[in-house]
Amino acid sequence: MALLDVEGLVKHFVAERSLLGRPRAHVKAVDGVSFSLQSGKTLALVGESGCGKSTVSRLVLRLIEPDAGSIRFDGRDLLALDAGALRAFRRQAQIIFQDPYASLNPRMTVGQILTEPLALHDLLPAAQRRQRVEELLRLVGLEPRLARRYPHEFSGGQRQRIAIARALAVEPKLIICDEPVSALDVSIRSQILNLLRELQDRLGLAYIFVSHDLAVVKHIADRVAVMNLGRIVETAEADALFASPRHPYSRALLSAIPLPQPQAKRSTILLQGEMPSALNPPSGCRFHTRCPFVVDRCRGEEPMLVADSTGHAAACHRVAELPPPGAILPKGGGFSPALAKLVAAFSQKTEGAEASGVGIQGATPPAT
Ligand SMILES: Nc1ncnc2c1ncn2[C@@H]1O[C@H](COP(=O)(O)OP(=O)(O)OP(=O)(O)O)[C@@H](O)[C@H]1O
Ligand code: SF4
Ligand SMILES: [Mg+2]
Repeated sequence: MALLDVEGLVKHFVAERSLLGRPRAHVKAVDGVSFSLQSGKTLALVGESGCGKSTVSRLVLRLIEPDAGSIRFDGRDLLALDAGALRAFRRQAQIIFQDPYASLNPRMTVGQILTEPLALHDLLPAAQRRQRVEELLRLVGLEPRLARRYPHEFSGGQRQRIAIARALAVEPKLIICDEPVSALDVSIRSQILNLLRELQDRLGLAYIFVSHDLAVVKHIADRVAVMNLGRIVETAEADALFASPRHPYSRALLSAIPLPQPQAKRSTILLQGEMPSALNPPSGCRFHTRCPFVVDRCRGEEPMLVADSTGHAAACHRVAELPPPGAILPKGGGFSPALAKLVAAFSQKTEGAEASGVGIQGATPPAT
């Protein structure tokens, strides 16, 4: 049984009201999203800014209520929980944000920050909380003596470790990581990603990992869902998606992975036109205004997300007739820069990823 099962999730926000307060326009932030997640696994949600990644995260945590759809967590209908059960659920699902500094109270010591959730959920007798705080700090690679310090006395990477420790304090089953390394220096991104993976192995955590950086996603995800304007356009096991992206939007995103060598020429697939607004998404396929393969049918008929027998699903009318990603070979033969990028990003050596500061070979360096 999946830990999390999301079916047909919809959330529209009121973007504009009339003088009388009636809604006049809606942002279709999430518009029919379904996925499931197993314990101990990572699902990455990727897509451009505004495509609905954070809204999905907030819905899954029940920080906001959906307009339609269902969410099952550990076999229970999350939307039907009473106040007591919802409180218990809050222990089991936590979130880590992009900017750990903004999410840590500057007036509290690290010890107080980590004790707070223990007290809130009445998890341990007061006398044992200090010991638990020390354990949590060790778990995330920080010295227990640092509990007396304040957030501003730490580096960005250390602050993210503290945010992770705070999420772990309540022993959750699911952690939503919303761009957890985007604000960090490239040199410490891999340390934090390593830490998240180690903790996942050790504690059996499930992650929803929100990111617009596919090089990072490549290294952390078991499964990937690519979002565009409130909908999932492609989802597959991470290896399959990176080796053979099917949807034209995923292909364009993948082509934006940094090049392996700094001097190599970029050949990203440039998307034509502005990203349309979720306020007024295009008719038919929401990607049709930017798609290089658009035909008439795309403008009028919305494609369904259709899966093959391996669970690789894409929402595109023309997916069966599009050239394979390998067909980005240049006329003169050899690898095109775009294909070289893909090859590097999928290879064991992970050079492609290093260009964006991600290299997850080896152990986590100690953070002091
Ligand atoms: N409370 C809100 N009220 C109105 N509109 C909202 C609200 N929250 C989000 N939106 C809109 O919903 C859409 C999806 O927003 P969301 O924050 O989920 O995107 P995102 O994929 O997380 O983007 P980013 O990568 O920039 O964080 C955007 O158009 C956003 O402006
Ligand atoms: S349905 Fe049409 S417009 Fe949409 S991604 Fe496929 S080819 Fe492009
Ligand atoms: Mg977001």
